[in-house]
Amino acid sequence: METRIRTADERRREIEAAAVKMGIDEAYISVLVDTFYGKVRAHPVLGPVFAEKISDWGPHLAKMKDFWASVALNAGRYSGKPVPKHAALTSVQERHFDIWLGLFRETLDETAPTPQAADYFMERAMRIAESLKLAMFGLPGLRAPAQAET
Ligand code: HEM
Repeated sequence: METRIRTADERRREIEAAAVKMGIDEAYISVLVDTFYGKVRAHPVLGPVFAEKISDWGPHLAKMKDFWASVALNAGRYSGKPVPKHAALTSVQERHFDIWLGLFRETLDETAPTPQAADYFMERAMRIAESLKLAMFGLPGLRAPAQAET
């Protein structure tokens, strides 16, 4: 059987076409990011955790739009390293991730163009949250006592 290797550009176009079918485009990603971080900043527990690190929200929001456009549209504009960035955030606790994901779900329920788009973003956020948690807190049950108490 012959397997044809697709070029990066073909692959990018396929991902974008699948996203567009779900109603996902740059304009929606912008709404998603702005609405979500509006909720994060207003949250009594999560707001201060972010405020400790981010004073100028313009660049952070732009970076997060690039990040989600790279995930959903394969736009290729984000080239950062989320794992070391989060590993350096000492005041983030494991329970904060549940709040983060809850606000993300709420944002998707309020704004997503289609249920498929909501599921698409939620699945990816949950997967990324798991890998960030693993890097920050280790495997459940194999933690140092100081980290296990959160
Ligand atoms: C409780 C959960 C979370 C907290 C408190 C948190 C907090 C932060 C903060 C403070 C920054 C800025 C770091 C810096 O500039 O040094 C950041 C960056 C970022 N976060 Fe999170 N985050 C959380 C979860 C997530 C999740 C679940 C995702 C992805 C789905 C994510 C994706 C990112 C990305 C892509 C960046 C940019 C990293 C870079 O500079 O390249 N975060 N986060």
